[in-house]
Amino acid sequence: MKFFVDTADIDAIAELNDLGMVDGVTTNPSLILKSGRDILEVTKEICALVSGPVSAEVVALKAEDMIAEGRKLAEIAPNITVKVPLTWDGLKTCKVLSGEGKMVNVTLCFSANQALLAAKAGATFISPFVGRLDDINIDGMDLIADIREIYDNFDFQTEILAASIRTVNHVTEAAKIGADVITAPPAVIKALATHPLTDKGLETFMADWAKTGQKIL
Ligand code: G3P
Repeated sequence: MKFFVDTADIDAIAELNDLGMVDGVTTNPSLILKSGRDILEVTKEICALVSGPVSAEVVALKAEDMIAEGRKLAEIAPNITVKVPLTWDGLKTCKVLSGEGKMVNVTLCFSANQALLAAKAGATFISPFVGRLDDINIDGMDLIADIREIYDNFDFQTEILAASIRTVNHVTEAAKIGADVITAPPAVIKALATHPLTDKGLETFMADWAKTGQKIL
């Protein structure tokens, strides 16, 4: 399973990238706002840092304008993935841009039928939002499972990019179901390494080691 980092924070991306944990990056207008950076500048910096797909989202609502924005974003670097919302205009944009050989990530997906449409429109990635479904008391992971089943039934090549990943358990569940990619904030990816028994075990080893009076270096 691939790990994308859901942020426009260059330092956070660089830290995870140094460990080989970054297969790609996703951004959205809220994350650009949070970064306080210019979208074109920060996206260019991310693309220079990371070799995998970097999603940059259009903000127009009409297909014609979305297509123009998508083309401009795609000029930033060859690894740009144009991110479009799952609306009828977004699907039109997906069809046109994927036809031009550009990677497209269809975002804000909340149903299996929406995911089916995105695959038919040639999406490279579909982004179902797990956490936001959980927020309204609908199990977001059920959607990931439904999309996996549907895509496998018809051999759709669109990759399932589980988004709005908020917890380490989301990561485990998405991996078990067979999501192709998860995108998560840096803090969630870093939390995957932690376990209280690891901390406790290390504490014991360190205490015993101190009693030996030995040194390795
Ligand atoms: O990848 C989509 C993500 O940025 C949304 O996450 O936590 O705002 O629902 P969240």
